[in-house]
Amino acid sequence: MNSLSDRRTFAIISHPDAGKTTLTEKLLYFGGAIHLAGEVKARGQNRRARSDWMKIEQQRGISVTSSVMTFEKDGLTFNLLDTPGHEDFSEDTYRTLTAVDSAVMVIDAARGIEAQTRKLFEVCRLRSVPIITFVNKVDREGRSAFELLDEVADILQLDVCPMSWPVGMGSDFEGVYDLYANTLSQPEGPSREFHGKSLAFTGLDDLALDKVLSADGLRLLRDEAELAQGGYSSFDGEAYRNGDLTPVYFGSALKDFGVAELIAALGKHAPGPRPQPAEPAPIAPDYAEVTGFVFKVQANMDPNHRDRIAFMRLCSGIFKRGMKLTPTGHGKPIAIHSPILFFAQNRELADEAFPGDIIGIPNHGTLRVGDTLSEKATIRFTGLPNFAPEILRRVALKDPTKTKQLRKALDDMAEEGVTQVFYPEIGSNWIIGVVGQLQLEVLLSRLEAEYKVDAGLEMAPFDTARWVSAADPADLKAFMDLNRTSMAKDRDGNPVYLAKTAWDVGYVADRYPKVKFAATRER
Ligand code: G4P
Repeated sequence: MNSLSDRRTFAIISHPDAGKTTLTEKLLYFGGAIHLAGEVKARGQNRRARSDWMKIEQQRGISVTSSVMTFEKDGLTFNLLDTPGHEDFSEDTYRTLTAVDSAVMVIDAARGIEAQTRKLFEVCRLRSVPIITFVNKVDREGRSAFELLDEVADILQLDVCPMSWPVGMGSDFEGVYDLYANTLSQPEGPSREFHGKSLAFTGLDDLALDKVLSADGLRLLRDEAELAQGGYSSFDGEAYRNGDLTPVYFGSALKDFGVAELIAALGKHAPGPRPQPAEPAPIAPDYAEVTGFVFKVQANMDPNHRDRIAFMRLCSGIFKRGMKLTPTGHGKPIAIHSPILFFAQNRELADEAFPGDIIGIPNHGTLRVGDTLSEKATIRFTGLPNFAPEILRRVALKDPTKTKQLRKALDDMAEEGVTQVFYPEIGSNWIIGVVGQLQLEVLLSRLEAEYKVDAGLEMAPFDTARWVSAADPADLKAFMDLNRTSMAKDRDGNPVYLAKTAWDVGYVADRYPKVKFAATRER
């Protein structure tokens, strides 16, 4: 079945080590896309071995770049967009979240909400992305389910609705009870994994539960589940889809508990392709033309080619191979002859794709992050932000004859969204800006490996940046003339004010009320 609403395009948000890789692997396994546990990691190593252009991935053993994995189940197509799992993430991660319709938030039962989960959650909230929570590792000793639910509710300001309940944790773990289907999944064998032993009951008071749980386990389950059902919200699909309520599943990705339930929940409750914010009006999947936006550009997936792959999220219409799409605002129609669909193990040429799908479009640098592609080029998707960098560095070129290569490299990487680049009005020391430290290492490593430019980074006299604009161009000009030593242009020629601290920005903003200082810039 292929229709405009049978896609589930989602991402997993979590803090490193909560179990995202394990859960991804199990989702693909239960979704039938891979056949052996361990394939995702194996694939990761394989890919790392091939993409030696990004030495940093090898050195650190982390995946800096995101990818897309697709599986089909129960007549639905699930597109899982991977977000880099490292603590030190980039704008890439944020942007990936603009391309999903829902998210799964994985938290470690022993740790609860951690820093990165929270940051990623905030990005989801900005776009009202609905979230299903998966409390992972209940096979281990963890915090009480109540404590975890309260934490999610308090920190994220969401209504929580427990969908299942763990029977004991750690060495007392006896399974997971589905509070809605009234089924109990139980561990089996020495590894205490879930091998499909799922028993149905008429309810928590079913006497048959006595036969399968220990007396302590049953008492605990009955007491706790009753309290939980009384104390937390019951499931409300609309509140979930509006981003106001999160259904919470308890499970263990490692031991297969809760994974099938999670896929079923995504299928049943998660939204299909949602209307996407655009000008002049949001675009729904049944809009008359094929439209999409580029949320990520990745260079050199194949080190032998200088090609780039632009990842486009299809927002409306049925895309057919060979179709011509035009990037709004710049350029001629592009005939897309070799679109790529991403499956777990292979990349395949796509003949057609539907709203919610991600297509890889090979190109030589024509397509950029934030570009809208459509048949008539009369609309523009909005809301793909550039974030004000939190770290600024001056680029020091060791060989001055390489200025041209450096400029090209910085422009390319700004275009891909790896780093931002600012060209000061005065002086020739270009400044790059990043949101996380890791991006600096990616930059240096790629400058050397791909562009053969030997450069270093020095502290810059600025620590933050704001895009400036004003309703009246004269006000902007007056401001820029008086503050030339702090002014720069970004990759697209937009004026940027560089400041020492956020406090300075506030101070200057007070003095120039007609000038707008923006911490994000939509492309
Ligand atoms: P991440 O992608 O979020 O960083 O986490 P990842 O899946 O790599 O999991 C982090 C660690 O937690 C791994 O252990 C993994 O095996 C373990 N883990 C994941 N899910 C569960 C679970 O449900 N129960 C238990 N008990 N452990 C879980 P590791 O020792 O760091 O790695 P490995 O050597 O096992 O690969």
